Amino acid sequence: MLPKKVENILNEQIQKEGYSSNLYLAMASWADTEGYAGIAQWFFAQAEEELMHMMKFVHFINERGGHAIVPAFDQPPAKFDGIKKLFDQVLEHERFISGSINDIVALAIEEKDFATQNWIQWFVTEQIEEESSVQLIIDKLNLVGEKNMYLFDRDIMSLRGTGA
Ligand code: FEO
Repeated sequence: MLPKKVENILNEQIQKEGYSSNLYLAMASWADTEGYAGIAQWFFAQAEEELMHMMKFVHFINERGGHAIVPAFDQPPAKFDGIKKLFDQVLEHERFISGSINDIVALAIEEKDFATQNWIQWFVTEQIEEESSVQLIIDKLNLVGEKNMYLFDRDIMSLRGTGA
């Protein structure tokens, strides 16, 4: 049985993962309209991944006898202030998500909910990968400088899933 407090924090995470998906979709759309086709493709793929994360929480809560609630989502920004700041914002957001995953681990331990504690480990690992792949992109951006975006935009998809 899923403890109520754990059910609640998992439902909060549905909101965070769904917002992440919408945020990256907004970033994809912005990059698309700015002519960065490769960067847009990276963000479209990222938005799909976040949607998959949200679905994992929905299924897990219901499988454990809880009730996954589909929330309202805040509207993400429509405009962004350049590519470097865009990825800085992504890293900051992923660190925030990592913090909320850690909070779930801590609560699952406190509530002796070892099934959730075991299940959430996939996300612990995923967050390490997400932060490191965004950091890798920021490192590359620092190398090429923001004025030389043509090759970066062309090559960014080859950085997907490489970790660091
Ligand atoms: Fe689902 Fe990027 O955290």
